[in-house]
Amino acid sequence: MAESAKTVLITGGNRGIGQEVARVLATEKWDVLVGSRDRAKGESAVARLRKTTSGRLKVVELDVTSDASVATAVQKLRDGAIKLDALVNNAGIYGEGRGDVGTTVETNFFGPLRVTLGVLPLLRDGATITNVTSDLGALANLDRAHQQLLADPGLTREALVTRMRDFVAGDGKGWGTDPYGVAKAALNALTRVLATELAARHIRVNSTCPGWVRTDMGGRNAPRSIEQGAASVLFGVTATQTGAVFRDGKRIAF
Ligand SMILES: NC(=O)c1ccc[n+]([C@@H]2O[C@H](COP(=O)([O-])OP(=O)(O)OC[C@H]3O[C@@H](n4cnc5c(N)ncnc54)[C@H](OP(=O)(O)O)[C@@H]3O)[C@@H](O)[C@H]2O)c1
Repeated sequence: MAESAKTVLITGGNRGIGQEVARVLATEKWDVLVGSRDRAKGESAVARLRKTTSGRLKVVELDVTSDASVATAVQKLRDGAIKLDALVNNAGIYGEGRGDVGTTVETNFFGPLRVTLGVLPLLRDGATITNVTSDLGALANLDRAHQQLLADPGLTREALVTRMRDFVAGDGKGWGTDPYGVAKAALNALTRVLATELAARHIRVNSTCPGWVRTDMGGRNAPRSIEQGAASVLFGVTATQTGAVFRDGKRIAF
């Protein structure tokens, strides 16, 4: 009997790196759930992708900053008896400088946490979770105290969440780098924490860094193509390791 297709949910799959990750996995015969906070944008992306791949693609309306949106999306997946083999937490925004601290941290840190906790009951044992990170989230960019905080092997999810709430309440000051960098550094710490929490279910959790990529976010001067960025992210979908940060399939120190 033929093996049934695997299913992946990609947040922010309607453009940029997320759309390319969707294209590659659909080409590899995965069933691809394209997360998009705007249904129409998601439908356009799926229509574009169907021109170049015969894989099965479906839009899931999903705003990673909204509890209600995540709950509704999860309920729809439940109603469709969908089980996930992979989750790619790709949706992100780059708020340059301090900008809107709340939205930057909500999208890049709390978003992946919210979606992960929401879909946890739908994830198969042995599934993978890939958190898309950034070079700007390197620990070295933070001041010493916060490097130590995030690198502490005893750090719990609850403590991390509290510290990120405090960071937002403090208007994004005092960590030595901007909110985007802090959110991605915290996401890498979350990756490690979740990897430990989910090890009993053999769910592997990794961060993957696309590098600086020519998307709407990265701009035209970025050195890497969308294909290169997506390939780096895709490593997490089939990674055998857990709890680490990778770029181009190589573990990087964060
Ligand atoms: N490009 C780079 O150089 C670079 C470098 C390092 C890391 N990254 C990371 O790579 C990931 C993808 O970036 P990209 O370059 O492809 O960015 P992009 O082209 O700006 O696309 C961002 C995607 O995230 C979605 N998104 C934003 N906020 C969302 C929310 N609240 N709920 C759901 N979706 C949301 C966007 O949806 P809308 O279309 O609705 O806005 C869009 O689909 C991000 O996590 C980013 O931080 C990028």
